[in-house]
Amino acid sequence: MSEPRTPQAGDDKAKDTDVVALLMRQHGDIRNLFDEVEQSKGKERRNAFHRLVRLLAVHETAEEEVVHPFVRRMVPGGEQVVEDRLAEEKAAKETLATLDKMDTDDPKFMPQLMKLRKDVQEHARAEERYEFIHIRRHTDATNLAVMAKAVKAAEAMAPTHPHPGVESLARNMALGPVAALMDRTKDAVRKAMGND
Ligand SMILES: [Fe+2]
Ligand SMILES: [Fe+2]
Repeated sequence: MSEPRTPQAGDDKAKDTDVVALLMRQHGDIRNLFDEVEQSKGKERRNAFHRLVRLLAVHETAEEEVVHPFVRRMVPGGEQVVEDRLAEEKAAKETLATLDKMDTDDPKFMPQLMKLRKDVQEHARAEERYEFIHIRRHTDATNLAVMAKAVKAAEAMAPTHPHPGVESLARNMALGPVAALMDRTKDAVRKAMGND
């Protein structure tokens, strides 16, 4: 069987100057990585799960720094929309923390993963419906590009491609735990937005 390959951001040659297109693509990458975790076993599953955790961490951090503040400020009823999204993100993060401590071969891993997948998918759909479509309506190309730059800075912290060979896990581990990754991502996003 050929190795599953998750498309990397940029593969679709979509323009990177539209924050909404970029975030939608990340939602697709996240969905594909869930598939990859489900369809693999052993070392490959561990590796795919690790990439999923990292992508989720940077994606959610970018949304918290870029999307939610914008929606709060610019979209009518935005305060409530953001509160609802934050509650969903909190629930997903809790499941993620449980999973992150578990071995991917643990029999309890897959049921927890499916719960996370369901939560993350529902959350992504709600974002697309109540936040993303309103972003384009309430801003111009210049601001879309500024926000895109910030989201790309976050994405650079979490390569979604598998790293060849056995060094991959060690290399990922060396990059540190999820909380530290979120902190570094926050710094990178703020710097890209020019307000650090
Ligand atoms: Fe989110
Ligand atoms: Fe999202």
